Amino acid sequence: MSNDVILVAGGGGFIGGHLVADLKAKGFERIRSVDVKPFDDWYQVHEGVDNRVLDLQELENCREATRDVARVYNLAADMGGIGFIEMNKALCMLSVLINTHLLMAAREAGVEKFFFSSSACVYNADKQRDPRVVPLKEADAYPAMPEDGYGWEKLFSERMCRHFTEDFGIATRVARFHNVYGPHGTWEGGREKAPAAICRKVILAKVSGRHEIEIWGDGLQTRSFMYIDDCLEGVDRIVNGEVPEPVNLGSSELVTINELVDIVEEIADLKLQRNYKLDAPKGVNGRNSDNDLIREYVGWEPSVRLRDGMAKTYAWIWDEYVAKYGAGKAATTV
Ligand code: NAD
Ligand code: GDD
Repeated sequence: MSNDVILVAGGGGFIGGHLVADLKAKGFERIRSVDVKPFDDWYQVHEGVDNRVLDLQELENCREATRDVARVYNLAADMGGIGFIEMNKALCMLSVLINTHLLMAAREAGVEKFFFSSSACVYNADKQRDPRVVPLKEADAYPAMPEDGYGWEKLFSERMCRHFTEDFGIATRVARFHNVYGPHGTWEGGREKAPAAICRKVILAKVSGRHEIEIWGDGLQTRSFMYIDDCLEGVDRIVNGEVPEPVNLGSSELVTINELVDIVEEIADLKLQRNYKLDAPKGVNGRNSDNDLIREYVGWEPSVRLRDGMAKTYAWIWDEYVAKYGAGKAATTV
């Protein structure tokens, strides 16, 4: 058996699609990209890649996906922004089947390295009550009080990776992503995260001439947002480095949601009246990434400025919006 295939699970999704492009650009020739969605719904379908539609909650499909595979990148999960994860806790938890079955199949197939995409949602809620949050250190995940549903699944799957390493010798790497944004991701439909949602709402205001915007919460909650290029660089360094424990992969540029809206308004050259929807899904009050550990392990941390990454994201969503709805005033049905 010559195990030299690289598997990207969730390759039809936002980060998975970019990862396949990145691996191709790095010269890897045997890449398998697997997603449960039909090809028409993939954000990117790359040529020269073994693209397959498979439900990776099923063990048999994980066996098929990991055949001849040396390395697995697991980016597959049923997830979305806070609006989705607060309303779909059971669906989020069922992603545990994906990581569990992928690990089992990877072990059987003799996979050498296994990457799992965890989340900042594993962190203890008590550490995220103040918008002026102290950046989260990896140790802050315990004692465990993660985001209900989605966060518990991520924390459990992190530990599954740890024990597969300890008991079965499979090298695992775990990154805790902090809110990732960029082109070729979800920008409408309910799963979108704040950066894409705010872009879409500003574009709608611009196109319709109705210069107002609905913001979830009071706008004072804080987050850090990581541009996709930083995410890819970080994954590469973590996978190829000696990183024996879960590590933060996130920007440390903390902003309020109001400041995020300021940035998009500036990019769009527009000022909007802000309407705050206080009963909308809000998540934690504050979240930022402490990057001491990633600097220690790989000598690097994310650095793309939010303003720069948002300009590229806005431009891509603008094109998508106009292609789908047109740019005339009638195109206001979103
Ligand atoms: P995404 O939703 O764009 O991609 C996930 C992909 O997984 C989707 O295309 C989906 O169809 C696929 N998938 C779901 N169930 C599947 C199944 N049963 N079998 C096969 N494929 C299945 O999300 P993303 O933003 O690209 O996130 C990738 C990973 O990173 C996920 O594990 C996510 O939890 C994690 N993460 C993302 C962020 C972020 O801000 N984007 C933050 C923290 C963690
Ligand atoms: N989605 C969204 N849409 N959020 C909005 C909006 C809007 O129109 N307006 C304001 N917000 C606020 C939300 O209320 C929340 O307080 C903040 O923006 C960030 O929301 P999201 O980007 O949806 O999610 P999150 O940061 O709370 O959690 C996300 O990041 C985690 C990793 O850091 C989720 O995507 C998780 O799945 C992910 O693991």
